[in-house]
Amino acid sequence: RIVYVNGEFVPEEDAKISVFDRGFLFADGVYEVTSILDGKLVDFPGHMTRLARSLSELEMDAPVSDEEMEAIHRRLIVENDLTEGLIYLQVTRGAADRDFTYPVGVKPSLVLFSQAKQLADTPMAEKGLKIAFVEDIRWGRRDIKTVQLLAPSMCKMAAKAQGCDDAWMIEDEHITEGTSNNAYIVTKDGAIVTRNLSNSILHGITRAAVLRLAAEAQIRIEERPFTPEEARNAQEAFVTAASSFVMPVVEVDGVTLGDGTPGPIAKRLRELYIAEAR
Ligand code: PDD
Repeated sequence: RIVYVNGEFVPEEDAKISVFDRGFLFADGVYEVTSILDGKLVDFPGHMTRLARSLSELEMDAPVSDEEMEAIHRRLIVENDLTEGLIYLQVTRGAADRDFTYPVGVKPSLVLFSQAKQLADTPMAEKGLKIAFVEDIRWGRRDIKTVQLLAPSMCKMAAKAQGCDDAWMIEDEHITEGTSNNAYIVTKDGAIVTRNLSNSILHGITRAAVLRLAAEAQIRIEERPFTPEEARNAQEAFVTAASSFVMPVVEVDGVTLGDGTPGPIAKRLRELYIAEAR
C-alpha cells in the first residue's frame, strides 16, 4: 500500500514518524475518515469543515490547504486502485521535547492512508447490529475528533465480550453515541430520535446528511438525548458513520427490536444515502 506522510507518497513500510511526535506521546492530534464509493469521495467538504474546527479548538494550523488535501486523497485513490473503502487522515501537533504545554513553531505531522472496505454491499447491513450498553468513560470534548481512542476501544471490547457487535455508551442515564458512530432509535409512531449536537458527541458528517434525507422524506425527527429504556422499547434503531453509512441495529441490551431484522426506516435511509453518494 502507498501511504502519505509529510509531503511524500511512499510504500507503507517506508513511512516514518518521530517517537517524539505529540500524536504518539499525548494523542495530541485530530483525524478524519472519509468514505470512497465507486472511486469517489463521499461528503468530502463536510469532513474538511469539521477538520478545520477540530484543529482550531486545539490551536493548531492546517498543514495543507483543503485543495491540497483533496489532491492527496485523490492520489491515494489512484495509487492504491481504491474503488470502495476509507481514507484516514491524521494531523498531529508534531515532534517536540516532551512537555505538557503546546510547543511553539513546530511543524504539524500529516499522515494519510487508504483502507479497502466493502461499504455498500455488506452482509452486516442485511443482518443488523447487536448493541450492548456500556458506561461512557470518554473525556468531555467529544465534539473534537481527536486520536485519543482508547476509551471507545475499551467500550467496544466490553460489548464484544458480551457477544455484541458494538456499544452504545451511556452517561447520566442517556445514550451519547456508538463507539465510532452516531446512534438513532425509531419510535413506535415512526419518529427518528437522535441526540442533539453538543460537546457530548461527535458531530457526524453522515448524521447531517442522513437527517437532511429523512426530513426530505417527511420523516419526523427529534434531536434530543434518549434513554436506554426508550431504546429497548424502540420500533427499530440504527447508527451512522462514514465507515458504515446507515447500519441497522436489531438488538439492544439483549432486547430484540421489531421482528429482529433491519427496520424499514433504516433500510430506506441507507438506500437514499448510498444512491446520493453514487
Ligand atoms: N468515526 N461518533 C464517533 C464517536 C465517531 O468516531 C464517528 C466516526 C461518528 C460518525 O461521524 P461521521 O459520520 O462523520 O463518520 C460519530 C470514524 C468513522 C472512525 O473513527 O473510524
